[in-house]
Amino acid sequence: MQKEHPAIVLIGFMGCGKSSVGRLLARDLRWPRYDTDELVAKELALSIPEIFALGEEYFREAESAALTSIGGTNPAVIVTGGGIVLRPENVRRLHELGTVIWLQATHAVLQERLARGKYRPLLDTADPAATIAALFAQRHALYQEAADLAIDTSAMSHQEVAQAIRHELRISC
Ligand code: S3P
Repeated sequence: MQKEHPAIVLIGFMGCGKSSVGRLLARDLRWPRYDTDELVAKELALSIPEIFALGEEYFREAESAALTSIGGTNPAVIVTGGGIVLRPENVRRLHELGTVIWLQATHAVLQERLARGKYRPLLDTADPAATIAALFAQRHALYQEAADLAIDTSAMSHQEVAQAIRHELRISC
């Protein structure tokens, strides 16, 4: 299954492996990689936690602007933040850019990965596990609706996920 537009677009919950898998794909395919979090941080010259400190809405505006700034005519790997699917206009843009791939993982696996992962401002709450559970419940259907293709990454290495994506899209190195 391949779309007319050439990008591989990765979506999914925090901790699902989008950044690592995106790096592997871009390296192996020698395609440019665009990461909306990196674009936002660069544009505002602030870290993601610093931007969140100015308000989540401020971050979401910058995130949508970053997505709009990505050109859609060449092959590329596009890595998104976990909340990109919250805005329908973002989802429309993702589909213009390419094939939208949801890196799924079970709730239990995500809890485990996030407990030992990088600092994430949305999880800086009194009960991060409960916050993850609530966000997971809210967002599951949004990822499902947005995805052209879903891959359950729960028991896979990042390299296996990258290979599975290339296999599904019939893209060889
Ligand atoms: C967010 C996920 C983060 C980052 C920001 C908000 C979210 O990206 O965009 O902290 O709303 O799920 P990752 O999915 O790469 O952690």
